[in-house]
Amino acid sequence: MPKTVSNIIEMKSREKITVLTGYDSTMTTLCDKVDVILVGDSAGMVMLGYDDTRDVTMDDMIRFTTAVRNAKTNSLIVTDLPINSYENEDSAITNSKRLVEAGAHAVKLEGGKEVAKIIKAVKDSGVPVMGHLGLLPQTAEKYSVQAKKSEDAVSLIEDAKILEGSGVFSIVLEMVTSDVAELVTKAVKIPTIGIGSGINCDGQVLVIHDMLGMFEKIKPKFAKRYLNLSDEIRNAVNSYVKDVKEERFPEQEHTFSMEKDELEKLEKEIV
Ligand code: KIV
Repeated sequence: MPKTVSNIIEMKSREKITVLTGYDSTMTTLCDKVDVILVGDSAGMVMLGYDDTRDVTMDDMIRFTTAVRNAKTNSLIVTDLPINSYENEDSAITNSKRLVEAGAHAVKLEGGKEVAKIIKAVKDSGVPVMGHLGLLPQTAEKYSVQAKKSEDAVSLIEDAKILEGSGVFSIVLEMVTSDVAELVTKAVKIPTIGIGSGINCDGQVLVIHDMLGMFEKIKPKFAKRYLNLSDEIRNAVNSYVKDVKEERFPEQEHTFSMEKDELEKLEKEIV
């Protein structure tokens, strides 16, 4: 059965929520066990080769969302509203609906109290919203651990409560100290999804390229690498190149041939 927003909310305190990013059909098909596929604007870095998420456009996010939808996954699909796509209530609603049309079940946007009205407007228009607090890659000057000081922690907890009041169905906490992530998780009734925010969140999200060991430009401390796929891919590609150069590929099993009599006929015709 396809996962719904209600299913995700009900999982709080019962069962940990698993989230992985997804940007294409093939990989999404392989991730059917995860509860949520996040079509993150991290696509800008891992798929499009940008230095950060700030060059990602609505057209990019629509294309990635369509690809993920085409996998016919049972996971809930949540797509990031990219930077500059939710500057006011009208643009946020229009762009959220475009993402839903492309296949998203919900959207995610970054920010605290300053985006509360926008979240409420999108939610009231019928599109479920996931919040995102802590490190906010669309506006951060540098990537650093958040809520290390008590006044920052107080403000983060306040933001989480305001987002909950605005109607988000869950909140991503990015690079928040684990103590504060735990406090936020206890302070709200909706699930928190941590990335670099410790074990006490209601769920965890990782960028799939980090988790598979495919992305070499940045290796965040919090991203557990379950595979070292970049080495595997490089080795496979090197073997392919060597095989072609040394005429070991293709072999008979990869080759199509004419019937013997057809070949003889052809040879007679072309002499
Ligand atoms: O864009 C993304 O992948 C994200 C996650 C890091 C939470 O927002």
